[in-house]
Amino acid sequence: MINKSIQIDSSTQLYGVFGNPVAHSLSPVMHNRAFAETGVNGAYLAFEVTDIQAAVAGLRALGMRGASVTIPHKVRVMDYLDSVDETAARIGAVNTIVNDNGFLKGYNSDGLGAVRALGEKTPLNGADVTILGAGGAARAIGFAVTAEGARVTVVNRTEERGKRLARELGADFRPLTGLQGLECEVLINTTSVGMAPMIDALPFDEELIERRALVMDIVYNPLKTKLLQRAEAIGCSTIDGVAMFVYQGGFQFELWTGRPAPLALMRRTVVDALTAAAVRNHATRGKSHADH
Ligand code: ATR
Repeated sequence: MINKSIQIDSSTQLYGVFGNPVAHSLSPVMHNRAFAETGVNGAYLAFEVTDIQAAVAGLRALGMRGASVTIPHKVRVMDYLDSVDETAARIGAVNTIVNDNGFLKGYNSDGLGAVRALGEKTPLNGADVTILGAGGAARAIGFAVTAEGARVTVVNRTEERGKRLARELGADFRPLTGLQGLECEVLINTTSVGMAPMIDALPFDEELIERRALVMDIVYNPLKTKLLQRAEAIGCSTIDGVAMFVYQGGFQFELWTGRPAPLALMRRTVVDALTAAAVRNHATRGKSHADH
């Protein structure tokens, strides 16, 4: 394959990720590769941002076309935008900014990315979906799959936090220790359990994987977590953490450029970057929604 490269000139549109830390972000390599492949005249950089208000003012002042927003700025950034899309408002977090001639609109592509990854494998309308965890990723996925018509059960170690999210979603809650007999078609791990270096950890008892048709993990370091290995071994269909990362990036690409994202190439680019990082023994954080 010939590697096409970006030609930067006076019409190049600037994009970037605002976060802290951002040193290991996979978004620059993924988006720049997608720009080069599709002939979009854009360049995407990583910005380590401490003051998100100033960063958004900078985006406006410089006429940047768009930005990804990641930890710790996803909630606060909403105060400085001109509009926030309905799904992002419900989730309460923005991870994508689109600048249309000075009008800044915020979106949340994490949930959309998860829905697209899941929707490729199974219809979500009417599906019983169990979400493990109640943090930012669980919120984004929970609201997005609920909007698709899924029936959600939230399972979380800390009951109070899990019950709060379940209430907001109109979902059921189950404690981590009360999963016996729980039936569901789709199981999604949004916790960091199984992420390197604790690669032998499972987020719940092994026998609970049985009866699940489709198992998704948002951890991508390692790419094949113990949960996914076990699920595959008993014949479940699986979705790895890179899928959600790439699909959310695909939504960003489409919002910014109006063109279809080269998803297969974006996935290959991310997997190659992860493999190279592993070879260099670099620690990537390894959860797909966190590491834009
Ligand atoms: P994120 O924004 O990435 O989703 P988070 O807000 O820190 O991250 O949420 C992490 C989720 O993983 C939480 O639901 C957390 O459970 P608690 O609410 O009980 O803290 C869950 N989690 C993290 N480590 C866990 C572990 N070892 N066992 C079970 N759940 C865990």
